[in-house]
Amino acid sequence: MARLESHFAGKHVLVTGGSMGIGVATARRLVDLGASVTLVARRPEPLAAAKRELEGRRPGARVRTLSLDVSDDAAVAEAMACELAEQPLDVLINGAGIAKPAEFVDAEPADLRAHMDVIYFGTVWMTRAVVPHFLERGGGHLVNIGSTASLIGVYGYTGYTPPKFALYGLSEVLRAELAPRGIGVTIVLPSSTRTGMLEHELETAPPQTKAIIKSTRILSAEKVAETLLRAVANGRFEVIPGLDVRLSTRAYLLLPASDERCSTARRAGPQPAGAEAAAASSLTSGAIRSGASTFGEWPTPGMTSTRVPGTSSKAWADSPARKNVSCSPKTAKVRTPRRRTRASSRSARRNSSSPSFDALYDA
Ligand SMILES: NC(=O)c1ccc[n+]([C@@H]2O[C@H](COP(=O)([O-])OP(=O)(O)OC[C@H]3O[C@@H](n4cnc5c(N)ncnc54)[C@H](OP(=O)(O)O)[C@@H]3O)[C@@H](O)[C@H]2O)c1
Repeated sequence: MARLESHFAGKHVLVTGGSMGIGVATARRLVDLGASVTLVARRPEPLAAAKRELEGRRPGARVRTLSLDVSDDAAVAEAMACELAEQPLDVLINGAGIAKPAEFVDAEPADLRAHMDVIYFGTVWMTRAVVPHFLERGGGHLVNIGSTASLIGVYGYTGYTPPKFALYGLSEVLRAELAPRGIGVTIVLPSSTRTGMLEHELETAPPQTKAIIKSTRILSAEKVAETLLRAVANGRFEVIPGLDVRLSTRAYLLLPASDERCSTARRAGPQPAGAEAAAASSLTSGAIRSGASTFGEWPTPGMTSTRVPGTSSKAWADSPARKNVSCSPKTAKVRTPRRRTRASSRSARRNSSSPSFDALYDA
């Protein structure tokens, strides 16, 4: 606590996506710690409501708002030039985001593009506007809010996951280039978090994704905010909020890369993975013990074929995407190479009494 206060008191922090959810929870904590904040979002009303609330928390709190679409590079350059001339900046938190889960065959092209424009390019434009200012001042800190979907690609998030992966790559490059010049870089990778975004996902996501999100532990925005601020104060590059989420995500990533991860993802079948939900909480210790997870089943030798996620031949044949192509899968089965590694053999021995995830689904 003392460390957070001494780190943030008197600092100026700009939070994109600051009017709601994780952004406003972070701003709340910052105001309590004595920082001044600028909140960025598109809609003026939620911004004004957040400003009122934050100013009510602490006498003399300095809260500014900026109505801005972060995906508009020209608008960002212009608005940020004025903002930085008004008040020097110490920390930029890139949190603006959207999520419209849909299976790839159903996703609207405009939505696929919008995810990239807001999540990835929104971060790029804001960072471009701020880095010269940090270099001039001799320091600063960049924070990107990624997701466990920055590490693991999962079912139902074809629009959301790619820009979150891209954010991870961008953050690593920025760290390499800017750390030697006194600028810190942190990427925060939350799993499902209780916010308006998640509520919206629960209304609109494919049923399989909803089921998974509902079955997993969901973080509070306050928990994510606290973890984020501690990571900045401690100069950490990467942080995954929640010990169980952290362990389960790491466990998944320890699977030997290509074959096993691919086959577990395929085996997820129609069950799988809300990006955050699956990437994280579902691989909890219970799932690890039982050998099943929302990614599907852990590698099991002898299991060489499995259904394509969420796809029957008929569903594929009827899908809008299928109508635009001249050939289709002959079968809804995918053959995965029978490759017996030492790790998969060990895993098979451990899991020999576990029920098959496919079998559970079939029931
Ligand atoms: N909730 C989760 O489960 C979860 C999990 C992992 C990661 N995350 C990430 O955490 C971040 C915050 O998510 P959240 O759950 O707090 O979402 P949220 O409650 O929906 O808030 C999203 C914020 O982003 C702003 N925003 C959206 N598009 C924008 C744009 N083009 N320009 C400027 N501001 C924009 C929104 O305001 P306007 O609509 O008024 O612009 C709002 O302030 C996102 O990057 C999200 O991907 C969320």
